[in-house]
Amino acid sequence: MERLDKFLCDSGAGTRSQVKPLVKAGRVTVDGAVVKDPAAKVCPENQRICLEGQPLGGWRRLVVMLNKPAGYVTATRDDQDPTVMDLLPPALKGLDLKPVGRLDKATEGLLLLTNDGDLLHSLISPKKQVPKVYYARHEGTATEEDAAAFRQGLVLRDGTVCLPARLEPLGPGESQITVCEGKYHQVRRMMAARGMRVTYLERRQEGSLALGDLLRGEARCLCVEEIRSLEEDTGKLSGSAPPILAGCEQTLGY
Ligand code: URA
Repeated sequence: MERLDKFLCDSGAGTRSQVKPLVKAGRVTVDGAVVKDPAAKVCPENQRICLEGQPLGGWRRLVVMLNKPAGYVTATRDDQDPTVMDLLPPALKGLDLKPVGRLDKATEGLLLLTNDGDLLHSLISPKKQVPKVYYARHEGTATEEDAAAFRQGLVLRDGTVCLPARLEPLGPGESQITVCEGKYHQVRRMMAARGMRVTYLERRQEGSLALGDLLRGEARCLCVEEIRSLEEDTGKLSGSAPPILAGCEQTLGY
């Protein structure tokens, strides 16, 4: 840990007397939050320090894609079960990565982890409409009526109202489901609300990112282009979130 003003000087932002007013004026952020105290302690390796929005120093944004197997909980620590952090290779440990949303213990597939708090919040915010695509095996067979109920925005058994979503029947007992939010057990509860208990669930896509040939249990860092397209998915680069659930436009108000 070191003082914020010292770090700013060492990064070439100016002399101590020049950087102090910049900090006090609120032009410096640490992990997205304005810090106005020049003596605040920061850890430049693990924190993103920006002067007028521009990152300084050694912080490097990392986004990791993991193909989660069943049996691991989405948490940074747990007293009972192995966590998704246990699956990261040693080179990706201790880098302040946090899971982007969560997959249930039994759910498999695509889970992102990042050290960028802003990106994390954008990806999980229902307002940003980033689609998450799931493959489900379930009891019963989904019908056009079920798909229409998903498009309308389902009401769960406990009264929770879901945003419009897409249900595509793939055959008896198999469906693809696309949702733009991450409520607790969301897909399982949506399917249950239509009388179809989910017996297997895998997330295959998040925004423009798909699992590809990443093996179950393995993790890899995304390249700059992939991170950029994720940002586009959140509407950050174009300025507005794209209407992703085509076919649900009217209900979504586009
Ligand atoms: N919906 C669920 O029900 N479970 C998950 O893990 C993800 C989405």
